[in-house]
Amino acid sequence: MKNNKIVGIKKMSCNLSCFCVLIVLLQIAKRFLPWLYNNLIGPNFIGPKVDVEKMGKWAVITGATEGIGKAYAKALAKKGLNVILISRSLEKLEKVKSEIAECSQVEVKLIDVDFTSGPEIYTKISTNIQNLEIGVLVNNVGMSYTYPDFFLNIQNEKFLRDIITCNINSVTHMCRLIMPQMIERKRGIVINISSMAAHVPNPLLCLYSGTKAFIDKFSDDLNTEYKGQGIIVQSVMPGYVVSNMTKIKRPTLMAPSADCYVASALRTLGISAHTTGYFPHALMKLAIDAIRALTCDSFLNSYVMKNLFAVRKRALRNAEKKAE
Ligand SMILES: NC(=O)c1ccc[n+]([C@@H]2O[C@H](COP(=O)([O-])OP(=O)(O)OC[C@H]3O[C@@H](n4cnc5c(N)ncnc54)[C@H](OP(=O)(O)O)[C@@H]3O)[C@@H](O)[C@H]2O)c1
Repeated sequence: MKNNKIVGIKKMSCNLSCFCVLIVLLQIAKRFLPWLYNNLIGPNFIGPKVDVEKMGKWAVITGATEGIGKAYAKALAKKGLNVILISRSLEKLEKVKSEIAECSQVEVKLIDVDFTSGPEIYTKISTNIQNLEIGVLVNNVGMSYTYPDFFLNIQNEKFLRDIITCNINSVTHMCRLIMPQMIERKRGIVINISSMAAHVPNPLLCLYSGTKAFIDKFSDDLNTEYKGQGIIVQSVMPGYVVSNMTKIKRPTLMAPSADCYVASALRTLGISAHTTGYFPHALMKLAIDAIRALTCDSFLNSYVMKNLFAVRKRALRNAEKKAE
């Protein structure tokens, strides 16, 4: 009788253990399978799930003379979209226009504005895009610190204001300018370039990562508000990409060229509304999330702080050498 009771208890605890393991496996599958689809299977074997060229005749790209913005402009032009390039320097804009003319037959319009300026720039942009059917908006323009530093060490108040104005106001106002015509036609794509910095610890660059976190959250909620009206709002969160901003000159697997990065990010359109845009960056984000889950946040924070502090030290030393 006693033995039967013990066997019964053993059986029950075995069943309970199996049930717990099943729940854990289901939870892992629930998270991992969408990750696998969004980052590997969807973009590489299925996507992109939308035709950008069917969204409208024109694409607008902010910060289009260098890096990621220029790569989006060239890639969208290659897909047959006419492009409106927006940056500060008309000379650099003309150069990109000639580059695009070499590889595609599309129309190219140039608008020179400084996104650190006041609201008058949006009147200029609005005048220049009147009556154009815009199907794709790439909010790419962004600026960061010249080197990582403690927030209170930054003496230039205007620089701090400029980062907020350029990174946040540009996205907000460009969406308000262009989304109404997309909604009228019930189709359109808004690609907002955030950064992995919005998601991972980024001390000594806190204002930059704060603005990028704004873009990510704003995009997520904007997407939910308007996806029922045929609009896709995608938040793209790159890790390191070769560019002037990162000062990385040679492409590697973890820091691809802007062209390679954008080709990959475009394949995620319609698949993922919230993406690193590039599989190795997705793996990196997964690894960081795993470290966060397995250790305490302070471990990762102090590791990144130590690294960025070393970058700051090197930058200050180089600046001193240059000044001598
Ligand atoms: N590269 C990366 O590793 C990385 C990683 C994560 C996120 N991002 C984000 O990706 C975006 C592009 O970065 P990137 O590395 O390609 O930058 P980049 O090479 O420095 O290019 C920046 C572009 O923006 C324009 N620009 C800069 N300030 C401007 C202003 N005040 N008004 C108008 N145009 C301005 C520049 O053109 P002009 O100088 O001709 O005006 C240039 O075309 C940024 O939002 C950045 O935060 C980049």
